[in-house]
Amino acid sequence: MTGLIPQDIIEQVRQASDIVDIINQYVRLKKRGRNYQALCPFHVEKTPSFSVSQDKQIFHCFGCSKGGNVFTFLMEHESMTFVEAIKHLAEKAGIRVPERKIDDKSKEEFERLHYAQQVAVDYYKTTLYSDKYRDKILNYLHTKRNLTDESIELFQLGLSGEEWDGLLKHALKKELYPKDMVAAGLVIHSDKKDNYFDRFRQRLMIPIFNLSEKPIAFGGRALKKGELAKYINSPETKLYSKSFVLYGLNFTKQFIREKKEVIIVEGYFDLISLYQAGIKNVVASSGTAFTTQQARLLARFTDMAYLFFDADSAGQNAAVRSVDALYDAGIEVKVMRPPDGEDPDSVAVKYGADKIEEIKAEALRYLEFRTLNIDMEKSGIIVREKLIKELAELAERIGDPTRRQLFISEASAITQIDQSVLANLTTGGYTTRRSPGEIKHPKKITDIESDLISMILNYPEYIETVQERLSPEDFQSKDLNQIYSFILDVYKTHGAIKESVLFDFIEDENLASQISSLMILDLPSTNIDTQIKDYINQLLTFKRERVIDKLRSELKLAEEQKDFEAARDLTTEIEELIAKRKG
Ligand code: CTP
Ligand code: MN
Repeated sequence: MTGLIPQDIIEQVRQASDIVDIINQYVRLKKRGRNYQALCPFHVEKTPSFSVSQDKQIFHCFGCSKGGNVFTFLMEHESMTFVEAIKHLAEKAGIRVPERKIDDKSKEEFERLHYAQQVAVDYYKTTLYSDKYRDKILNYLHTKRNLTDESIELFQLGLSGEEWDGLLKHALKKELYPKDMVAAGLVIHSDKKDNYFDRFRQRLMIPIFNLSEKPIAFGGRALKKGELAKYINSPETKLYSKSFVLYGLNFTKQFIREKKEVIIVEGYFDLISLYQAGIKNVVASSGTAFTTQQARLLARFTDMAYLFFDADSAGQNAAVRSVDALYDAGIEVKVMRPPDGEDPDSVAVKYGADKIEEIKAEALRYLEFRTLNIDMEKSGIIVREKLIKELAELAERIGDPTRRQLFISEASAITQIDQSVLANLTTGGYTTRRSPGEIKHPKKITDIESDLISMILNYPEYIETVQERLSPEDFQSKDLNQIYSFILDVYKTHGAIKESVLFDFIEDENLASQISSLMILDLPSTNIDTQIKDYINQLLTFKRERVIDKLRSELKLAEEQKDFEAARDLTTEIEELIAKRKG
């Protein structure tokens, strides 16, 4: 991210640009105590929760939890790129930013890759409409798949022919090299025979586009029964990271925004058929569980998702596996259930949009869906325990406090577990959800973890002390574990973690907001040393207790299996740990 401009220039610009001066040009800041406050420019609010710290040169909003440094403010507020933000501030400060030519090369590489993809899209289309294949493939698309010419056109469907190297030969005429085609994932090089051949043959080609409408990859569907794989997809390339892409979003994003909700399906054909039927606020997950990145991408357009997967158990399990990421991204989830034996594609083709609206009206809230076939009275303790833990964990993921409370009360009704018990099972609210100064007794483990991270961020001179004794895995909270390893990384490569500098290295918005929220807290400035050591000790104690618990259950198992040797070793180990507890 920072590679294009020399680090010393970035530092000069940073020094010259006071965050209070800069932000003041966009919002009216008022001094309040040590910090400045304003109505947040990133969300609608009546009372100011947007805070700017001049000491730390960072901002953070307690309402919408956006945060960062002066550069990220401009990136968010003015939609600048990092480089544009630097150049903008440099100009104001009269600092000259040297133009570097180095990036030309990588720019050229990306352009070649995009060009290769475009050449392939065109070639596959030409093949589809060629005399040799046209009748047969159009017959398949029209009759078997019920697709109109308009849909075939819009989704730019194509065909890879029988030849081993049809695309490759064509690409060479278009001034592309074999190595370009390999880098684009369209051609394979055989080391054994030292020759090149097309990755896709005799498949229906479905181009995958990025949000700027540029093709970046393909899904290739088999046309004959008995092919090894129904789909062959492009490999990961410089243009294509599967976990960041949602098929169809380029076509459907404006409809998702308009409707304020999205229907998530699994297959390419599910999406195309729904779209053709007139239901256009759809994306396809392409048959994998939703990733965090996909969920965050989607969260830019809506906070309400309907999962519409196959009726079979694989489809329904995929629904369960997708929920964590969606909840993490603040997206509420409902589940649509197709009739037995059907999938969204077949419903759209056979019954049309009305039926889909009907199914949508009957969608279950995720919680209802998850507990649909579980009878709490009749289930054994293990099933109940597992479910309760799962729901508590899910509740934890819900950022919005009202939504979380609703979820907890409903979960409590279903599981017949007291609300407060369920709430306590959640591993602990995260600092972004806590207002500053609000202290909870006794402190939950994740609160200790987040307070410790706040301390490190505010008093980076203690990083060594912490680093010596705690590794990222010692943090229970996944987020804090990630933040801590990020801090250690920056420290290792930069030799310092000075406040606002951290934000230059963050590409992930969620991470930025968590870090700014931990940073903006005003912490006591006395006894820091003791406080930090105390936190470290508490975390290590907690870790030891966890290990003891684990060893205890292993011991129980060993005894049950009459593995007395293992049992003896485990006993010794446990006793040693218990002795340390006292020491
Ligand atoms: N998929 C894949 N590789 C496979 C099977 C499936 O990548 N071998 C992905 C594809 O993105 C596919 C999605 O999982 O679109 C859903 O699979 P499926 O329902 O089997 O495919 P459809 O696209 O619905 O294809 P069709 O309707 O032609 O069976
Ligand atoms: Mn299908």
